[in-house]
Amino acid sequence: MTNIQHPISNIQIGVIGAGAMGAGIAQVAVTAGHTVLVYDTNQTAIDKAKNNLRTTIKKQVERQKLTEENAKGISARIHYISNLHDLKNCAAVIEAIVENLEVKQKLFVELESIVSSDCILASNTSSLSIASIASACKKSERVIGIHFFNPAPIMPLVEIIPAITTDENVTQSVKKIIDAWGKITVLTKDTPGFIVNRVARSYYGESIRIYEEGMADFATIDWALKTYGGFKMGPFELMDFIGNDINFKVTESVWEQFFYEPRFKPSLTQKRLYEAKLFGRKSGRGYYNYSENTVMPSPKQDDMLGKIIFNRVIAMLINEAVDSFYLQLASVQDIDLAMTKGVNYPKGLLKWADELGLANVLTILENLYAEYGEDRYRPCVLLKRMVKEKKFFYH
Ligand code: NAI
Repeated sequence: MTNIQHPISNIQIGVIGAGAMGAGIAQVAVTAGHTVLVYDTNQTAIDKAKNNLRTTIKKQVERQKLTEENAKGISARIHYISNLHDLKNCAAVIEAIVENLEVKQKLFVELESIVSSDCILASNTSSLSIASIASACKKSERVIGIHFFNPAPIMPLVEIIPAITTDENVTQSVKKIIDAWGKITVLTKDTPGFIVNRVARSYYGESIRIYEEGMADFATIDWALKTYGGFKMGPFELMDFIGNDINFKVTESVWEQFFYEPRFKPSLTQKRLYEAKLFGRKSGRGYYNYSENTVMPSPKQDDMLGKIIFNRVIAMLINEAVDSFYLQLASVQDIDLAMTKGVNYPKGLLKWADELGLANVLTILENLYAEYGEDRYRPCVLLKRMVKEKKFFYH
């Protein structure tokens, strides 16, 4: 099975979908020296991707981040194609089309009839299982998940997700390629939300819960997490930035795929925002109002309240990170890298757990569990064991 030989940059890469993600992935691959073929069924998307890349390259040359020669090379190596058959010589094809299983499966079946037998087929899906996409293929061992973050040229993290059927050589080849693109790769299991979109759920979910209970308003919760946690953006600012439509759909999908696990249960607050089309910055209003002349609400800067909010959210985040390690999604280092490089957390959560003291984190969770009696607050068994055995994640 596939084992990509050096030099990696000589291989041709196909990108399907020229939207937000596909265009970004194509830019990363072509900048790394590959010949890149981009396909999309929508000509407007192709035109937009072409223009955006042209503008980006021009700016980079002006700012002396790219030489004229390299800029010319990039323009010469990227090809926007209108026939899937042009992908026949690609060593790897990365799909970033609409998030729909049937549409993706149909595309993969078609691709298999075009590309060579050892061509790697990858999906950038953020919520579908790689196993389900691979199951449509004759050679499911060549199918893998390569999950970039938006915007792909800027965000350093890439999650690599072998399905249960993926050949180990394919995983290693993909890791080699993406590492050569200057990205930070973490290997993770084919489980809902992979690492980042699973662990990060608590940042939003617990913050919304705190708001729903009337403990604090959006501005105060955002202030608390930035002040006591050092997060660059508070959860409500961040949800408005991501878009409440996207964030709600990811939450719903992770919850459903985990067989309705209470820890991931979506909130009515977010659902109502979604239904009212209050998507956040892009629609002008979300948790906050972004229209001109609106004064942003001020937080209630109460030290004790701030600490309570921070403790509750960080304990939930750490519990999720511990559970991800307990269930062997990835190594301690990769779980921490995923959160610092994928969503800019100020510290890896498992390192943070060591610093706060595992016993302290456990006490917060046990108190919440005792008070609410809700399953969402049950501490991970590994956390309990580690406290009992006085262990640390790093040491
Ligand atoms: P998008 O809507 O910006 O772009 C999708 C593109 O695919 C469109 O240009 C569309 O014309 C094209 N397309 C649809 N069906 C096609 C087909 N059958 N053949 C060829 N082209 C087709 O979507 P976006 O945001 O770029 O997402 C793409 C994929 O990346 C999805 O699977 C999404 O879950 C995933 N993803 C998205 C992230 C994000 O923040 N937007 C982050 C990480 C992954």
